[in-house]
Amino acid sequence: MHLKTNSPEKITLEDSKSPITGIITLPGVGSALSRKLQEAGFSTLESIATVSIGELMALGGLGEKTAGKIIQAARDKLGYGFVTADVILETRRNMLRATTGADTLDDLLNGGIETGSITELYGEFRTGKTQLAHQLCVTCQLPPALGGFNNDDNNPISCIYIDTEGTFRPERIVSMTTRFGSDLDVQMVLKHIFHGRAYNSDHQMVLVENIIKDAPSKNVKLVIVDSLIAHFRAEFVGRGTLAARQQKLNQHLHSLLKLAEVSNVAVIVTNQVHSQPDMFFGDPTMPVGGHILAHVSHTRIYLRKSKGERRIARIVDSPLLPESETVFAITEEGIGDVH
Ligand SMILES: Nc1ncnc2c1ncn2[C@@H]1O[C@H](COP(=O)(O)OP(=O)(O)O)[C@@H](O)[C@H]1O
Ligand SMILES: [Mg+2]
Repeated sequence: MHLKTNSPEKITLEDSKSPITGIITLPGVGSALSRKLQEAGFSTLESIATVSIGELMALGGLGEKTAGKIIQAARDKLGYGFVTADVILETRRNMLRATTGADTLDDLLNGGIETGSITELYGEFRTGKTQLAHQLCVTCQLPPALGGFNNDDNNPISCIYIDTEGTFRPERIVSMTTRFGSDLDVQMVLKHIFHGRAYNSDHQMVLVENIIKDAPSKNVKLVIVDSLIAHFRAEFVGRGTLAARQQKLNQHLHSLLKLAEVSNVAVIVTNQVHSQPDMFFGDPTMPVGGHILAHVSHTRIYLRKSKGERRIARIVDSPLLPESETVFAITEEGIGDVH
C-alpha cells in the first residue's frame, strides 16, 4: 500500500483486514490508515497523543494537516491537558515497584525501583551497576506480593536489556533466579528477558525506538540500558563535539522518558563517573552526561565500593526521597543484605 505524503485526502481506505484498535475510532482514520500507523509503531492512542507532528509525518507518511488533526483527536479522546493532583496521585498508585533483592536498598528506595520513570545507577567500574541491572530482570518477574511486576499469569511481563558493553551474562540470571526457589521458573525468567547488543549509539537509539513500538503488545515493564553513555562518549571525542553529542543524547533520553511514562515501564540506565584524575573540567565523582541527564533521570543512585562484597548506594537526586545512603552486598545469588 502506498500513501501519498502530501495529499492525505487521497488516502485510500479500502483495506478491511486491519485489526480494530483504539486508533481506528479517531475521526478520519480508517482501517488502511490505522494499519499504516500501527506498522509505523503507533498502536495505541497514547502513542499518537504523545508524538510530535513532525515525527508522525515522517514515520506515518502523512501530511502536516492530517498528522496534526490525528494527534489532536487522540489527545482529545484521552482528555490530555491539565489534570488535578488527586488524579496524578491515583495514576501513581498504578505504578509497580520491584524489589532490588536487598531490604536496605528497598527501604532507601521506598519499596524498590518504580515503573513510569527513569532510574540512573552511576558509579565507577565494579561497583555493581551491571549486577543490579541483572538482578532487576529477575525480581521484576516475581508476582507483586513477592516484590515484582508480574500481576497476570496469562500475560507475563517482559524485560529488555540493551547491552552496550557486552557484559550481559545469562549465567548470572540463572544464579540469581535460584534464590527464589519455586517462586520463579528459570526457563520462564530467561525467556522473558530480551537482550539487544548495541554496537554504536545509532544502533542503541534504534533499539529503543523499536521497544517503544513493541512495549504494549509484549507487555514490556522493565528496560535496562547498560551503559547509557559509553558509545556517545567514545564516538564524540573532544570538546568541539560536545553540543552534537548532547543533542543526540537528549533525543535518546526523551525516547526513554516517553517509554517510561506512556507505557508505564521502569527504565534503568547505568552511567560512569568521570574517572581521569588529571581532567581539566568536571568533578571526578560526578556522573558523565552533564545537565541533560540530570534533568531527565528521576532518581539517581550513586554506587561505590566498600569492603569485599559490600557496596554503598546513595540516593543523590529524587523528587520524592530524601538524600541518604545504605550498604548492600553482591553475592553469587545476586544483590542482598549484608550479613
Ligand atoms: N558470581 C558472582 N558472585 C559474587 N560476586 C560477583 C559475581 N559476579 C560479579 N560479582 C561482583 O560484581 C562486581 C562487578 O560488578 P558489576 O555490576 O559488573 O560492575 P559495574 O558497576 O562495572 O557494572 C565484581 O567486582 C564482583 O565483586
Ligand atoms: Mg557494568
